[in-house]
Amino acid sequence: MTASRLPEGRRRVEVHDVTPALFDDLISVCSRDRPGDPVHAEGARIKREWLTEVTRACGPIAKLAYLDGKPAAQLMFYPEDAGPRTPGRRDVLVLYCVFTGASEDRQKGLASSLLRSFLEEVRTGKLKTMAGRRIRFIRAPLFETGEGLSMAEMYQRYGFERGPQGAAEMFREVQGAYEPPPRSRPAPPAGDRRRGQLLPIGRSLVFYTPHCQWSYVFADHMAKAIRELSPQHEVLFVDAWRDPAAGDWPGAQAVVDGIPVYAHATEGDGFRREVAAILGKA
Ligand SMILES: CC(C)(COP(=O)(O)OP(=O)(O)OC[C@H]1O[C@@H](n2cnc3c(N)ncnc32)[C@H](O)[C@@H]1OP(=O)(O)O)[C@@H](O)C(=O)NCCC(=O)NCCS
Repeated sequence: MTASRLPEGRRRVEVHDVTPALFDDLISVCSRDRPGDPVHAEGARIKREWLTEVTRACGPIAKLAYLDGKPAAQLMFYPEDAGPRTPGRRDVLVLYCVFTGASEDRQKGLASSLLRSFLEEVRTGKLKTMAGRRIRFIRAPLFETGEGLSMAEMYQRYGFERGPQGAAEMFREVQGAYEPPPRSRPAPPAGDRRRGQLLPIGRSLVFYTPHCQWSYVFADHMAKAIRELSPQHEVLFVDAWRDPAAGDWPGAQAVVDGIPVYAHATEGDGFRREVAAILGKA
């Protein structure tokens, strides 16, 4: 345990670094109300595997806040160079997300306890994940569930600033100056065999990240939308953390017949409309 306090009289808040024994607790914070959903269960399995791999390599990459003994809020982070696909900068720390699961647990100081614990360890050089490394800055990608306070508003309260337009991230400088991530990696060589295999007409890629169980659920929504519009389409699920194919289409959620689709599966009908336009079914 790394912190403890009593924010509301008798309510007990404890912050723990997430070791493998706490992976199920961590996953439970974002998986309320999903019993028996096999797609969600697969997303959770993928996340557990990813947590195991990255925790083994880097040490704890998440913090959990317990409210009266119940896992209630989480914060995830990792060194930018932890991924196998992107080159990643050695001295940059990614703050991936912060989330308090149940509406009744919000505004009780949980996310603040997590951020304070995290930032204090960054400041004092005690964050195990970055042990012995200089931390130039923290970058925090922005995405929202539409619940509670937005991550952007939360991070702003803790000294994070907006990145340049189009970067969809915030940052907080630690021992050096902020630098936005490179926009894309160079295009693969024209004769790249794998790219040729992935892109024929009639084939689609849907991307998911193993960091979040919901990402796989959204990829499944995208696959279903594509198959509804074109039942013969072959849809491949691509792990954006590990698979180099994802690096060819930065910011895309899917690729249909070689054309990237940027609308997110949760953005109303936007994804379906983009796909229909590509397939000539708009
Ligand atoms: C942002 C979030 C993590 C805050 O969690 P929390 O446990 O309620 O945070 P805290 O209780 O520590 O509150 C932090 C501060 O924000 C304020 N705050 C929290 N929710 C607020 C709201 N809905 N409206 C206004 N202020 C709010 C608190 O009053 C507190 O202010 P203080 O520092 O002046 O005391 C939570 O609202 C959330 O999960 N939102 C969704 C974020 C998201 O989409 N994450 C991606 C998920 S994968």
